[in-house]
Amino acid sequence: MALSDFDLVLFGGSGDLAMRKLLPAMYARDVANDLPPTARIICVGRADASQEEFLQTVETTSKPLIKSPAVTQSAWQRFTARIVYVSLNATDATSYKPLVEALRKDEAITKVYYLATPPAIFAQICESLKENGLVTPNSRVVLEKPLGRDLASAKQINAEVGKVFEESQIYRIDHYLGKETVQNLLALRFGNILFEPLWRREWISDVQITIAEKLGVGNRLGYYDTSGALRDMLQNHLLQLLCIVAMEPPTSISPDAVRDSKLQVLRSLKRFTPTTLAQNIVRGQYRAGHVDGKAVPSYRDEPDAPAHSRTETFVAMKAEIDTWRWAGVPFYLRTGKRMADGLAEIVVRFKQIPHSIFNQPTNSFQPNSLVIRLQPDEGLRMNLMAKTPGDGMRLKQAELELDFREQFKSPRMEAYERLLLDVLRGQLTLFMRGDELEAAWEWVEPILNSWESEDSYPLPYASGTWGPAAASALIGRDGLQWREEVLPED
Ligand code: BG6
Repeated sequence: MALSDFDLVLFGGSGDLAMRKLLPAMYARDVANDLPPTARIICVGRADASQEEFLQTVETTSKPLIKSPAVTQSAWQRFTARIVYVSLNATDATSYKPLVEALRKDEAITKVYYLATPPAIFAQICESLKENGLVTPNSRVVLEKPLGRDLASAKQINAEVGKVFEESQIYRIDHYLGKETVQNLLALRFGNILFEPLWRREWISDVQITIAEKLGVGNRLGYYDTSGALRDMLQNHLLQLLCIVAMEPPTSISPDAVRDSKLQVLRSLKRFTPTTLAQNIVRGQYRAGHVDGKAVPSYRDEPDAPAHSRTETFVAMKAEIDTWRWAGVPFYLRTGKRMADGLAEIVVRFKQIPHSIFNQPTNSFQPNSLVIRLQPDEGLRMNLMAKTPGDGMRLKQAELELDFREQFKSPRMEAYERLLLDVLRGQLTLFMRGDELEAAWEWVEPILNSWESEDSYPLPYASGTWGPAAASALIGRDGLQWREEVLPED
């Protein structure tokens, strides 16, 4: 569907996200000829820079980060001609005149306000837009994470933004929902007859969802130390993946049908009590170690890190969903920084065969599993038992592999490219609704509270490992192992 003309306004327009992700994403879509010829990107910043100075910053900061498609001079010129820099104080409605003047008056032109700013100023920006007459039925607002730091702040954001924009105009970004494989998971589950009959407690033994990063906290310590892995990754990305794996078939791909199904999962997550919380959650903090053979410092020795920081950089937990479909099936969720490998994957493990007709005991059979790989490579792998070639009847694990890159030669799209296109098209399916956001915070809040009130510390783990040993013990108690422990050669 061709996009209609738009003015995309990036608040935080000279910030890290705009430079690293948003402008490169828009460039890629421009090169793909997705953008209407007169569409513009208005970058809003506080700095009193001229248009030329700002474009110079884009040239030196953003352009080098564009790897694909390779930047050509003509395409770059066409792209930068769309950029307009506007300097104002986002929290002062009286300073919005330059933005009012920069925006085109024609109401048929879609106005998108992308708030890549701290959430503390979302409300003031929305009110200022309204006060300046910049909100019409054809305008949309995009909210970048973190979307609050607990239930109360998330509710406050929803309420304040909701005073200015209708829910149908609000796009809450979780960039994991823009990843190719996440949508392929929808295709896998609901575009095939094979999986849905098996997708339940009778056939599935457990599900593991891992997002592991080799990177440390980098230059984001100021933010990260007040957040931690639970807020930064689990409350949003991991829970969204869990929702897509566990949701009931939506009636259609329409935004509310999908979001209703996801909401039902969030509301069915078993609540933790102080006892179950201690038994089922492990948190850790990285210490010095080696990643890819390179020595890396401890979290507490990162620049500006508090010497006694209690912020977790790793979380592993066993979650359960109280529904007929999933009762009793553990969902192991895990995320961490400075891990042994950088990957994001979902592993659905099926139950063991009930009886072996071969001269091999049942427990020598690896249960079937489906590995859904989000990154670094994108694909699906089904592990099956097969006969080894030659004489005799010996069964061994074999793999059916679908590598998306191999199979579909079409060019890739980064998550932000897809999500920005969806915003510009008015397609809400891949964005969180307000009630989903609140349900996710409601579930994690007891965990946050217990960590805040107690005086215990996260467990230390060496950088370049898979986290504290307690994470293996957590899953080991159920007689299971994390995938890399089962398949070390992977
Ligand atoms: C962000 C987190 O939302 O996701 C970062 O704030 C994290 O801490 C990042 O590094 C991971 O995203 P991706 O797409 O690189 O896996």
